[in-house]
Amino acid sequence: MKKIALIYGVTGQDGSYLSKFLLKKNYIVHGVKRRSSSINTHRIDKIYQDPHEKNKSFILHYGDLTDTLSIKNLIQTIKPNEIYNLAAQSHVGVSFQIPEYTANVDALGTLRILDSIRSLKLEKKVKFYQAGTSEMFGRTVNKFQNEKTNFYPRSPYAVAKVYAHWISINYRESYNIFASNGILFNHESPVRGETFVTKKIISGLCKIKKNKIKTLYLGNLYAKRDWGHAKDYVEAMWKILQYKKPDDFVIATGKQYTVKEFVNLACKELAIKISWRGKGLNEVALDESGRKIIKIDKKYFRPTEVDSLRGDSTKAKKILNWIPKTTIKELIIDMISNEI
Ligand code: NAP
Ligand code: GDD
Repeated sequence: MKKIALIYGVTGQDGSYLSKFLLKKNYIVHGVKRRSSSINTHRIDKIYQDPHEKNKSFILHYGDLTDTLSIKNLIQTIKPNEIYNLAAQSHVGVSFQIPEYTANVDALGTLRILDSIRSLKLEKKVKFYQAGTSEMFGRTVNKFQNEKTNFYPRSPYAVAKVYAHWISINYRESYNIFASNGILFNHESPVRGETFVTKKIISGLCKIKKNKIKTLYLGNLYAKRDWGHAKDYVEAMWKILQYKKPDDFVIATGKQYTVKEFVNLACKELAIKISWRGKGLNEVALDESGRKIIKIDKKYFRPTEVDSLRGDSTKAKKILNWIPKTTIKELIIDMISNEI
């Protein structure tokens, strides 16, 4: 019998990679999309067009993590073997502007799914994956963060995700639900949302190279992140649910770069020669002809920043046999070739 998966957040970056991954593994994949006034399925449209998928293994439903009734009805109807909760207001910066909505979706949305599993008495049938984040470590003092590192969330987004993390553990311990947390560090891809920094940099530099724009505006160049490729990270999500017991895992590359280093690496691949001048809000990157192609705009700074993230995924390597396969250079090349 084919396994059935239900993905919340199917139209997002990870949802699209996970759908393809599970379909290859012969799952029936149900995905939940939100109603939108404009089409929001561009990342998964190709799955429909794939001739191999004409067997109707990929089914979409309308729903929303703020709507308890639809969550309960869908879970009751589909009775999936695995639920992946990837849905979220996932932008850290935006969460400062819509904190209540972020908490409603990212924190309470998780509770709504878990409590539907409980109240429908599907504890023995359904495994639940929660999309946790390295942002929960926030203002950490540890050079590397692993499953034992304390959380110190620094945004409404991260605080909501800490709730989601702990409510998943609480439902696991209280009701024996197979609920696992993946604590994923930043992961990117060609279909990364346009307002996240890696995609913004790649897309901006490609436009500069083609003379479509003159300048790319960025915020904090000195934040350090551990960037991996989404296609490696969805495999980890699946492996987490195949483990014999529910547990929590850090998923990361263990390597770290500043935003500025990411810009430099991307420029190298695009054969754009730049030099940096100035400091603080006046820092700029000049191209060979002396044009200011990168400037700083303070509107991209956050009220509280997460300065440094670098994951230690020894546990995932040991227990799940998971390791990241894509280097940062390969990630950047993949993003550039899709952009071009
Ligand atoms: P993403 O591209 O922003 O996708 C988020 C998904 O959630 C989209 O499908 C979005 O729908 C959906 N969504 C938003 N609000 C919703 C609501 N109220 N009800 C139902 N669905 C809703 O994010 P991602 O990068 O794929 O990340 C997937 C998950 O992993 C998120 O929970 C994120 O917080 C978490 N995470 C991401 C990273 C990372 O580096 N990418 C790292 C750690 C954790 P629309 O398409 O309609 O907007
Ligand atoms: N978005 C953005 N735009 N970030 C910028 C910019 C800019 O113009 N300039 C500098 N940055 C800095 C941010 O201040 C942050 O320190 C870093 O670049 C990365 O920002 P994002 O790409 O927006 O990602 P994030 O680290 O805040 O959050 C992402 O990763 C988390 C995992 O750690 C998101 O995908 C979250 O959903 C995810 O949980």
